[in-house]
Parts: sequence; structure tokens; C-alpha cells
Amino acid sequence: MTRRSNPTIIQPVSGSGALTLHNCDCLEGMADLVAPESVDVVVTSPPYNLGIEYRSYDDRISRDEYLAWTVKWASQVARVLAPAGSFFLNIGSRPKDPWVPFEVASALRDIFKLQNTIHWIKSIAISKADVGDYPGLEGDIAVGHYKPINSGRFVNDCHEYIFHFTLTGNVPLDRKAIGVPYQDKTNIARWAATRSNLSDLRCRGNTWFIPYQTIQRATDERPHPATFPPRLPEMCIRLHGLDRCGLVMDPFSGLGNTGVACALLGVPFIGFEIDPVYLAESVKRIGRAAGQGSEGVAPEPE
Ligand SMILES: C[S@@+](CC[C@H](N)C(=O)[O-])C[C@H]1O[C@@H](n2cnc3c(N)ncnc32)[C@H](O)[C@@H]1O
Repeated sequence: MTRRSNPTIIQPVSGSGALTLHNCDCLEGMADLVAPESVDVVVTSPPYNLGIEYRSYDDRISRDEYLAWTVKWASQVARVLAPAGSFFLNIGSRPKDPWVPFEVASALRDIFKLQNTIHWIKSIAISKADVGDYPGLEGDIAVGHYKPINSGRFVNDCHEYIFHFTLTGNVPLDRKAIGVPYQDKTNIARWAATRSNLSDLRCRGNTWFIPYQTIQRATDERPHPATFPPRLPEMCIRLHGLDRCGLVMDPFSGLGNTGVACALLGVPFIGFEIDPVYLAESVKRIGRAAGQGSEGVAPEPE
């Protein structure tokens, strides 16, 4: 049984499902605390084995050890995932170690089907000349954060992967839930597929522009070295289908951004985080998103 199984449970003011956080190793936590086939959506970002300075976790183990550990925790994800569930795995690399996402995806080949590969775009530059007469585009745009040029051989890395794994490869999605309005409205009636179901939304595709919020001081405003914005899990959950989402899980919860998205969407959540400081910060953030304020949030009595 997990050594620490007294969770912090946040009850949203709206009355929607509870948001539960466990300060423990997710391998033990999933094995002991999560029933088989009980989770509809997993959105997570594990450590990437790139030597990131986490408070508790050592991100410098050998690649073989890392991949063996990845298979272990992902096997627990497969056990708890509902047969028609979705597992969104966010992972990135760095120019000098570009293979991690591909090695991780191949290590999971025997466990899951890779149903979609999504690119999380963190910054993008669009030239007016390339898009012609698009309405509303007055000139070139460059959005998101850019680093100064610091290498003679690598371009800046402005994206990460979101691998959408499922157990069958055949999980239906709600593509319009994150759809994009047509620029040219004559397209609404043009396509055969939309004629019977007129809608001003096209599929967003697999390039998702999600910038980080601009902050002044990381130590106060984002005290963690590797987070994703809450918009990322929000889009994954909506794409899976909010009406088929009874429970969302993040085994590597960090500052709780998947929990924040769940609080905003009114979806029950369970998260695991090994570091108590990150977990305490996530409790505050999820509490705020649930409309509670952190004083309304308490650990369950043992
Ligand atoms: C990439 S970060 C996740 C960040 C999160 N997505 C966010 O937006 O805040 C990975 C997290 O996994 C945690 N971690 C590492 N090993 C763990 C384990 N065995 N069980 C639970 N958490 C773990 C680390 O402390 C770190 O906070």
C-alpha cells in the first residue's frame, strides 16, 4: 500500500466532481489507488530524461533505465484507462538530445496504439506575404516567446509532441469541440461532410498553438522547471469529449495544470506528484480554479 495515502481533496464550489491530489510515487499510487478501467482521459508530461533540475526527481538516469521505467508507469496507465479512453502524453526534447520523444513512443508500441500525433507549437512567425489576403492580418506576426540566437547549428526548438495513445486506435473524438471557424464562410456548405450538418467549424488539425503566459518572476509565478499551460490539457480533454469524461488523471501532476483545466471544465480529477512543494503549489492553483481559495482545501484526515 502507498506510504502516504492521505490525499488532498478539493470540492469545487460549482458542485462538479472532486479534484484529488496524492503526494506519492505515481507507480505505487496508480497500483494501489486507481481501479482498472476507471479513468477516461490521462493528460500528462513525465520527466524527459534531459537533466532538468527537479526538486525531488533525478532526471539524469541512463536512457535504458528511463525507458524501462517509462514502460512500467505506462503499463499502469493502460491498466486504469477505460477501453475507450485517451492517453495524451506530452514530451519534448532538446537539440543535442533529439530522440527522446521517438524512443518513448516506440517503447510504448506494444502497449498502446498511436492514434494521433499532435504538435504543441509554443511560438510561431507568419509572414503576411505567405498568407495573402487573409482578413484581419495587417502585417507579419511573431507570437510566443523567442530566445536569442545562441547556436550556430541548431534552430530554436519551438514545439513539443503530444502523443495521443489509445488502447484500440479507434476512439471517437469530438473534433468540433476544439474546432476552428472557417475563414471563408462559403466552405460551410461546400464540403459534402458538412452539408448534412451545417457548422462553421473545421477540424483544428494537429498543430496547436498554445503560448506560455508571460510572467515576470518564475520563482514566484511558476516555481517549477517544466510545466505546460492549462490550455493544453483543456484542449486534450475537450477533444476526447467532455460528455465522455467521468475521470481525468495526471500521474506527474507538477503544479497541477491538468487539475486546473479539470476544475475549469467541471471534470473530476486525480493527480500524483512526488514532490511535496510542487504538490502544495498545485493545491493552491487548483483550489483557485475551483473557486475555493486554498483555505477551503484540506487534506483528508487519515
Ligand atoms: C514535466 S513535470 C510535469 C509538470 C506538469 N505537467 C505541470 O504543468 O505542472 C514532471 C513532474 O513529475 C514529478 N515526478 C517525477 N517522478 C514522479 C513519480 N514517480 N511519481 C509522481 N511524480 C513524479 C516531478 O516532480 C515533476 O513535477
